[in-house]
Amino acid sequence: MKSFILSFLVACVSVTAFSQNQYNIIPEPQKLIPATGVYSFKSNTAITVIAKDNDITSVAKMLAEQLKASFDIALPVKAGSLKSNGIFFVQNDQLGDEAYQLNITTKNITIQSKNGKGAFYALQSLFQLMPAQVYTAVKSNIIATVPACQVADAPRFSYRGLMLDAGRHFYSVDFIKRYIDLMAVYKLNTFHWHLTEDQGWRIEIKKYPLLTSISSIRKESMVGAYKDMKFDKTPYGGFYTQNEIKEVVAYASKKFVTIIPEIEMPGHSQALLAAYPQLGCNPDKIYEVATKWGVSEDVLCPREETFTVMQDILTEVMALFPGQYIHIGGDECPKKQWKESRFCQDLIKKLKLKDEHELQSYFIGRIDKFITSKGKKMLGWDEILEGGLSPNAMVMSWRGTAGGIEAAKLNHDVVMSPNNFFYLDYYQADPKTQPLAIGGNLPLSKCYSFEPDLPELTEAEAKHIVGVQANLWTEYIGTPAYAEYMTFPRALALAEIGWSPKRPKNYVAFSDRVKKHIPVMDALKINYCNVDLK
Ligand code: ACM
Repeated sequence: MKSFILSFLVACVSVTAFSQNQYNIIPEPQKLIPATGVYSFKSNTAITVIAKDNDITSVAKMLAEQLKASFDIALPVKAGSLKSNGIFFVQNDQLGDEAYQLNITTKNITIQSKNGKGAFYALQSLFQLMPAQVYTAVKSNIIATVPACQVADAPRFSYRGLMLDAGRHFYSVDFIKRYIDLMAVYKLNTFHWHLTEDQGWRIEIKKYPLLTSISSIRKESMVGAYKDMKFDKTPYGGFYTQNEIKEVVAYASKKFVTIIPEIEMPGHSQALLAAYPQLGCNPDKIYEVATKWGVSEDVLCPREETFTVMQDILTEVMALFPGQYIHIGGDECPKKQWKESRFCQDLIKKLKLKDEHELQSYFIGRIDKFITSKGKKMLGWDEILEGGLSPNAMVMSWRGTAGGIEAAKLNHDVVMSPNNFFYLDYYQADPKTQPLAIGGNLPLSKCYSFEPDLPELTEAEAKHIVGVQANLWTEYIGTPAYAEYMTFPRALALAEIGWSPKRPKNYVAFSDRVKKHIPVMDALKINYCNVDLK
């Protein structure tokens, strides 16, 4: 009997050891070949860089810094050549833009990439293969090891994004940096920063100071469910100075994350109108920064003065964000005020437009031409398709996939961000068990089930799908902790759809890998939702 119990215990131990999948990387790499043995990081070695690209050296230094912070192992980073023992970062111009090869043996670690991006993604994979301690800055006695293997990896899509709405609720620079840090762990490369809303304008524009003194503050906010119509009678505000924006942009670039700013127009502009009512259809109206959630009927009027102001604003925005895309919103612009406006109706006649929808196209078209003339590209929600667009404009499909399909057929690049799969403000479990959210039903399994290769598209059209993005709208999400709760673990599903090769979907296997990944999220102190991870 005793020996039976003993062998039962041994079996349990070995099952536990076995179930600790040491090759668990999220998003799953293109190819991973396990090998035997482990590499142990020790102080008597070095990190050698064999590369012309300085970004590769920067990434090598990140490894050194992390080994020092987490394991108290100090390794020099130096230029040199390949040897039989050590850690090597090697520039390989044959590899793709974000691709990498990571080769781990008992004697050495070799990371090959064409540039810093590839090296950075190799580093993220390496960290995930190490004890989760690597994600903390607490020195420990845990031995820093990594299992031997060969990884050959490259992203499926070039655009892998997350959007955070800083308009409904303001998030500090520190939290924005943390959000970017967490994105980078999962090889997400685009942070879409939603900076203006009916309920608050969040970016300093030097030429229009009232945008920060007036438009960034609402007199009160809704509390509880929308239907209750309750307000907290407490002013709420916040904005990012241009210096802070520059700081965040520089920070993100070190993590190989591009930031796309969004400046909403012609809808979602009530906060702007509170400061500059002359840009509305009713300049005598006393506009206020919105206090109710939802879509405001107070929209920009397509007057010359409006275009001048919006172009001035975009000029300052384009100088702050070096990325090629500027998001101009374009969604949810109610046409009521344009229907009732003598100016708008005369303009429709003068321009021989059919209706207010064509007037919206005219508005977007002028902004598109302006952005294009400055050497940048316009990005907008799928409503921007309602009229013709310049060929380089990109469309973000949020009302399901239909807008994205239409845009791809018109030869526009598309980011797939369908609300029914990627709206992180939707409930991820039974609302009765969850903090108040906007509605919807988006468990991890549903998010994971999205396949961007849509049957409606030919092979050539499908090439216009440049990637995927999930969006965190924040009407009901007022704290960093809640923002993380809604983002994770669903961002892991997004990351896998954006990065990993197209494979048959297997949610059971995916959720199993996410469960095994919990020590990493714990080490990163992510406030994830665990309802789908039990
Ligand atoms: C959106 O959700 N209005 C883009």
